Amino acid sequence: MAPPRPVCVTGGGGFIASWLVKLLLSRGYAVHATLRDPCDPKNAHLMQLDGAAENLRLFKADVLDRTALAAAVEGCEGVFHVASPVPLDKLVDPELEVIVPAVKGTSNILEVCSTMKVEKVVVVSSTASVHFNPTWPQDKPKDESCWSDKKVCMENELWYFLAKTVAEETSWEYAEKNGLDIVTVCPCIVFGPQLQPVVNTTSELLLYVIKGGPNAMNDVMWEIVDVRDVADALLLVYEKPESSGRYISAPNYITTKAMVELLRKAHPKYNYVKCKTDVEHNSPITPTSSEKLRNLGWKPRKLEETLLDSIEYYQKTGLLQDAEGNGYSCHLPEMFSFFHAAK
Ligand SMILES: NC(=O)c1ccc[n+]([C@@H]2O[C@H](COP(=O)([O-])OP(=O)(O)OC[C@H]3O[C@@H](n4cnc5c(N)ncnc54)[C@H](OP(=O)(O)O)[C@@H]3O)[C@@H](O)[C@H]2O)c1
Repeated sequence: MAPPRPVCVTGGGGFIASWLVKLLLSRGYAVHATLRDPCDPKNAHLMQLDGAAENLRLFKADVLDRTALAAAVEGCEGVFHVASPVPLDKLVDPELEVIVPAVKGTSNILEVCSTMKVEKVVVVSSTASVHFNPTWPQDKPKDESCWSDKKVCMENELWYFLAKTVAEETSWEYAEKNGLDIVTVCPCIVFGPQLQPVVNTTSELLLYVIKGGPNAMNDVMWEIVDVRDVADALLLVYEKPESSGRYISAPNYITTKAMVELLRKAHPKYNYVKCKTDVEHNSPITPTSSEKLRNLGWKPRKLEETLLDSIEYYQKTGLLQDAEGNGYSCHLPEMFSFFHAAK
């Protein structure tokens, strides 16, 4: 019998993609992972994963380089498109830094998938493409029919949110026009232990909460999903023949204050961020429903496990040592200031 055809994961060294590659290898898949720089030590963890020596191949590819993407996708049965910039700092040129790689990168990979006759493509979108919808009824949980309004993203200079919305819209337009089988998954904020050695943007956000700022945060609603459950969701929608359309993966809600209390109870020695409870804020984050994904068989873990496993990972790797020592100093990622930074 011929061996099963491999699957490709773009941006394989990132926070979410590393867990996906690990999961795929553990389930016996052969994996082609694309990386911008396979020789960068920040990607060294991939070849250490169980099964990597036999079943993981690394390909050098920027998502803006269609020829390089084609070399990675050739022979693959399925593709998981995960690569997209998640910026930490204020953008100097949003078009160049985020919008082009997110949108053009997505259409490039989809075009390659069509040419290479890939059977199914899973595109990682975000609840960034769901939440910014001022016309959605306040009392109704947002579901997969809710789309962010690009004008609202633009007016508020929320470039990452705009990029994810346009990239997902572009995916659907392309798939419908070209008959490509795609599914999109929209995770909320992703926390959990890292496999990669460098700190990704959302882990930076949680480190900011634990290390205590320096600046206060609004006491707003957070939606949180575990990175291991996102990997499960991506594989689930890939493997289920009946999966179709968008899938929100946002199983847990908590306020800033409640999250700090939960973490402080287990780990009292950190400073934790101060919460402003008495201020008007402009957060558009309201409950969303992950019912569609749960109905497909998705079983995300409890929030407490995600938060405690994250803090334990940061402790173990020295990320919570004093910033003055050889520890890691953190700052609030710019893209979260809109919701979280207290004025
Ligand atoms: N973390 C979250 O809370 C969250 C929530 C919802 C959706 N998402 C989505 O999940 C995906 C992965 O995010 P993450 O949190 O795992 O962040 P991450 O660790 O920063 O991963 C992003 C990956 O994208 C790659 N990338 C960026 N620009 C690229 C380009 N031009 N060509 C090729 N690769 C490029 C990066 O490669 P380099 O290492 O070479 O920079 C990195 O591997 C993204 O699509 C993001 O929008 C994340």
